[in-house]
Amino acid sequence: MSKVTVVGAGAVGASCAEYIAIKNFASEVVLVDIKEGFAEGKAMDLAQTASLNGFDTKITGTTGDYSRTANSDVAVITSGIPRKPGMTREELIGVNAGIVKGVVSNILQYSPKAIIIVVSNPMDTMAYLVHKVSGLPKNRIIGMGGALDSARFKYRLAEALSCPASDVDGMVIAAHSDTGMLPLVSKATYKGVPVTGFLGQEKIDYVVEETKVGGATLTKLLGTSAWYAPGAAVSTLVQSIICDQKKLIPCSLLLDGEYGQKDIALGVPAIIGANGAEKIVEISLTDAEKEKFATSAAAVREVNNDLKSVL
Ligand code: 2OP
Repeated sequence: MSKVTVVGAGAVGASCAEYIAIKNFASEVVLVDIKEGFAEGKAMDLAQTASLNGFDTKITGTTGDYSRTANSDVAVITSGIPRKPGMTREELIGVNAGIVKGVVSNILQYSPKAIIIVVSNPMDTMAYLVHKVSGLPKNRIIGMGGALDSARFKYRLAEALSCPASDVDGMVIAAHSDTGMLPLVSKATYKGVPVTGFLGQEKIDYVVEETKVGGATLTKLLGTSAWYAPGAAVSTLVQSIICDQKKLIPCSLLLDGEYGQKDIALGVPAIIGANGAEKIVEISLTDAEKEKFATSAAAVREVNNDLKSVL
């Protein structure tokens, strides 16, 4: 029996619940929201797709009654305000930090063994906040950013190469931010071959820049943050945990010397399994990538300093 709680029944949370249900690997998903009836409605609507989408996952919702989330294996935190066009993720910290702190306490009251996935922005700082306020072992707090950013990187690579996304591979590490993201061009491949053999520097620069602003591009088009790819990215993390798939997925994890950083949550490649982030994988970076990683870390530390009022 596996149970997943998703806090925040907005677009991202509901999409996450939908993809988890459709993939049919979890016994139960509980949606939580503070808006009266909202989580119940979204859960019922999703549950009514069961016979159409062929899943057995039980989906329910609750307006703030965390006892309904008891004994969850994984808890996903999507609650908080999303970006508006032109906003940076960092501008959300004041409101979202307080929300996330309260949510963590409520989750752990009923699911003390849960693995927590943080989605709320600014995500790296919110993940760091959860480490600081929860005292959980660091492998049980996973920030979702790199999985989404890597999917956007692969989308842009496939677009540039006019090929299916399944023909490319690529990974994004460092901060989940418009300026701090680090798409690893040196590791990106097309049919297993480095993409640098197929794309000129101008195209590569375009792919990298469009990847970095992928979230902002969608916020401009949609008037709010994206939800399909974020929801799907979360569901891949949840599945790797619940099914102990030990996938290598870039996530925001608390670093203790890895990649030259300490006391910060930042996107790094990791093995994701039943125990959460089971191993941080240190891959070789070019000198330029190392420098960008350090610059990205410094920017996140700046934002983390704004947490003082909440810690
Ligand atoms: C994004 O990049 C919501 O931060 C998320 O779309």
